[in-house]
Amino acid sequence: METVLSGIRSTGHLHLGNYFGAIRNFVKMQHEHRCYFFIADYHSLTTHPAPGDLHRNVRQVLVEYLAAGIDPEVATLYIQSDVPEVAELYLLLNMNAYKGELERCTSFKEKVRKQPDNVNAGLLTYPVLMAADIIIHRATKVPVGKDQEQHLEMARTFANRFNRLYKVDYFPAPYAFNFDNELVKVPGLDGSTKMGKSEAEGNAIFLADEPGAIRKKVMRATTDSGPGIPGEEMSQPVENLFNLMRLVSTADTVEHFLESFQQATIRYGDMKKQLAEDMIRFTAPLRERILELEADTDYLKKVAGMGAEKARESARKTIREVREIIGFKPF
Ligand code: ADP
Ligand code: TRP
Repeated sequence: METVLSGIRSTGHLHLGNYFGAIRNFVKMQHEHRCYFFIADYHSLTTHPAPGDLHRNVRQVLVEYLAAGIDPEVATLYIQSDVPEVAELYLLLNMNAYKGELERCTSFKEKVRKQPDNVNAGLLTYPVLMAADIIIHRATKVPVGKDQEQHLEMARTFANRFNRLYKVDYFPAPYAFNFDNELVKVPGLDGSTKMGKSEAEGNAIFLADEPGAIRKKVMRATTDSGPGIPGEEMSQPVENLFNLMRLVSTADTVEHFLESFQQATIRYGDMKKQLAEDMIRFTAPLRERILELEADTDYLKKVAGMGAEKARESARKTIREVREIIGFKPF
């Protein structure tokens, strides 16, 4: 049995990219492995230092995780800040994380571009905290989307460095994981290659979106100037729509539109209508559960409490052993 762990920052609603990149894989594995899934609320402070609605965001993400199928009786589902041992491991790992390697990290460089007035130390050491999240439970498989690959490489670096420095074989190396072998990158609706909550308005389909909102966003999705000649190469925005369709529609439907594309008889409007309806069909049960769970504060409280307890037990053991390995001793 392997240990599996993943998490998502608590900065907004979950979208189909989060679902297909991370959560779906996790849900599939929860019965076979030792599984941890958490809400990265410490991490959210790197971009939102004073969120007026921190608790509400965390609550919403918890609801959406549960609605997406994470079973808190089987997996350990918790909130990062409920496990302060993570912060201690982060501090210890920071002593062996170098400024140069952190500055070279792609996501750091991107954040510097996006928020030049708030290049805080938390942003720089984001991958160290992420490594702490993972190795505190000594996880080896991490279901995430393709954009997290470099962070996983850094987590391996920090885990290996700890082992080398203290001459132990304590932390196993964690790897990004997807069921279909290849890591997923779900495209956005605005012609960009990635669905993301911080992309342009209308780029992402959220699990909690109402049917009307889904239809509107999909009908406005970027395409190109129309079918050209038979056999013409597909443009990126149209390829994105096909890739989205592969996630939510039947193989027959995809085949039908592919054929009409190849024959240059396709009408993008028809394709979008179909895509919207299939997305609605796919998200409807999730949305229904979100609405139910939102109202059930007692249940959410129980889930968070149970998760915190289980996660802390595992984290405490690691911290005890790490302190011993480094050489901290009680008098
Ligand atoms: P966002 O990009 O919307 O801010 P996060 O960075 O919080 O989303 O991502 C949370 C998880 O969801 C990560 O594991 C990430 O790899 C995955 N994820 C996010 N967007 C996508 C996407 N478009 N395709 C595949 N996985 C994604
Ligand atoms: N960096 C991840 C993201 O942006 C969130 C995250 C934090 C995470 N710690 C993690 C994911 C540990 C997997 C494992 O989505």
